[in-house]
Amino acid sequence: MNGTKAGITADSVFIRQSKRGDFNKYARMLQKSIEVAYSSRKLGLDRSLFSVRVFSSEGMQNWMKDNLYPASGKWTFVATYRSRIVGAITVKKERRRNELRAFYVDPRFQGLGVGKKLLKHALRLSLGKEIVLTMYPHNLKTFLIYKRWGFRRYGTAGYHHWSAWPDGVRMRYARMLLPRNSAQKLYKSI
Ligand SMILES: CC(C)(COP(=O)(O)OP(=O)(O)OC[C@H]1O[C@@H](n2cnc3c(N)ncnc32)[C@H](O)[C@@H]1OP(=O)(O)O)[C@@H](O)C(=O)NCCC(=O)NCCS
Repeated sequence: MNGTKAGITADSVFIRQSKRGDFNKYARMLQKSIEVAYSSRKLGLDRSLFSVRVFSSEGMQNWMKDNLYPASGKWTFVATYRSRIVGAITVKKERRRNELRAFYVDPRFQGLGVGKKLLKHALRLSLGKEIVLTMYPHNLKTFLIYKRWGFRRYGTAGYHHWSAWPDGVRMRYARMLLPRNSAQKLYKSI
């Protein structure tokens, strides 16, 4: 079921493939979404770890370009509202499975069905394959959404340290997998 916020519905949000010129708007959307999703006072993950300054670092700029810029074996879809980018998802093709990367929606546009619209495009490119992704499970809201969609944890978890962070700061990640049949079912249901 899709929602409405301040008169905005998912029907007024359009999905298209990314282009290089999207970079600044894409980076702004990612920074806002990640800052809200991952900062946690309880875990010592201060908002400043996800600031515009951190996103301007070479490591983050390269990570975002690697996601956004068109290249073979990889697709990025962006969700647009008027002239804004309000969400994105990257699909990386592998032989037997596809990997989802950088799946984010602007916090002000979450809960409207934009994520499902993006995911549908990613799943269409992945029919017949299982899907994997890496996420940060302290972001419980997203972890529960993935579980409801049929993803389950697999492989070993670990810690990421972003190069722009002070030494010793790290964030726990987990890997999740959506079996082939569940991916097909989810594709039909969203
Ligand atoms: C995960 C994310 C991309 C989903 O995008 P979205 O636009 O909010 O998703 P949708 O509106 O399409 O809703 C998807 C599902 O989540 C549920 N949902 C959305 N917002 C919710 C909220 N605040 N609380 C609980 N459930 C919520 C919806 O009801 C829907 O459930 P359904 O599939 O059973 O109908 C988005 O929430 C996000 O950017 N999260 C933070 C970043 C993140 O962790 N990304 C993943 C990195 S791997």
